[in-house]
Amino acid sequence: MTILLDDRRAAQRILDHIENRTTDLGGEIWREPVANYRSEERLAMEVQQVFKRTPTPFCPSAALPQAGAYVAREAAGTPILAVRGEDGTVRAFRNACRHRGMAVANATGCAKSFVCGYHGWTYRLDGSLRHIPHEHGFPGLDKSTHGLAPLRAEESCGMVFVTQDTPALEDPALDELAHVFSPEQQLFATRERDIAANWKILLEGFIEGYHIRATHPETFYPYGFDNLNLVEPFGRNSRVTYPFQRIAKLARVAREERRVDGLLTYVYHLFPNVLITVLSRHTNVVVLEPLGIDSTRNITYTLTNRGADQEEMLREAKRDAAFVGEVGAAEDRAVVCAIQRGLGSGANEVFTFGKFEGAIAHFHRTLKAALAGRAPAA
Ligand code: FES
Ligand SMILES: [Fe+2]
Repeated sequence: MTILLDDRRAAQRILDHIENRTTDLGGEIWREPVANYRSEERLAMEVQQVFKRTPTPFCPSAALPQAGAYVAREAAGTPILAVRGEDGTVRAFRNACRHRGMAVANATGCAKSFVCGYHGWTYRLDGSLRHIPHEHGFPGLDKSTHGLAPLRAEESCGMVFVTQDTPALEDPALDELAHVFSPEQQLFATRERDIAANWKILLEGFIEGYHIRATHPETFYPYGFDNLNLVEPFGRNSRVTYPFQRIAKLARVAREERRVDGLLTYVYHLFPNVLITVLSRHTNVVVLEPLGIDSTRNITYTLTNRGADQEEMLREAKRDAAFVGEVGAAEDRAVVCAIQRGLGSGANEVFTFGKFEGAIAHFHRTLKAALAGRAPAA
């Protein structure tokens, strides 16, 4: 397993690239059949065999700050409810009442119990069925076997992971995320947006910097470099680092005193469909939820970064998030939607990912192996 570079080693590798006019290069190019973006059958396999069987980040821990706090949304097409219990443990359930299947919670909030809006069956935070109105109409019904259907949920590294089906592959490399979140970080925005593109096209746009100059000439490029990135696979996942030009000043700072805050952006791709983007003052957890072969819901949780003064951090984070979230993201959306519209043009039977796009090659290689039931590439 590759261990991610720490900040100082990452800074040094970037400084070396600046000096040598180089960038990280992947081992080989990857050719991905365009049919894999257009096939209903392929998407169904991705969802059933990969999404549902992989411990997948459902939301950041910061979205469930106290007992009763919950998040309800679909993941891999399944309505799921995650809630922090009185004992502090996060649990996840299929969000469907055990009477006739109505959702028992919507969106986000804080509850003492979940009361189904159809007939009023009431569940405790641990999912157990507490109350049936006019219970005498259900003679012999065992309440203890009619709690909300649980799913495997684990809280680690500042995120809640949910697994819907028997996990096919554990991923010890996720330990690499231990330092990404700290408890003082606050969730200050959650946004959902449906985008007319296959989930993999959206994902690909996050994990390569080759496009920055052409796609973002006035937003990101003036502060960044043309095609200068670190690309580090770890387990099934990868991290891509986007330095800002101002990182060059670290060349004049002693190695042990170098700090990278505000000088680069780390983007973690957590297989299969989650990204963590650590920007100067805020961090996004982005979940790409497939709605169909040509439609994806982008659910973005935005947190302040770590820092002593959370009030000031919050002000600055909101300002930055508005810029990156609106202007830059609109440029990426225009690209991915145009790619989606062109998928059926017949121009390409394969898409060719070059050596600068190594994190994408790693993703497709890993996805292919997972669909074939093989161990992930290291
Ligand atoms: S469906 Fe929930 S109480 Fe009837
Ligand atoms: Fe972009």
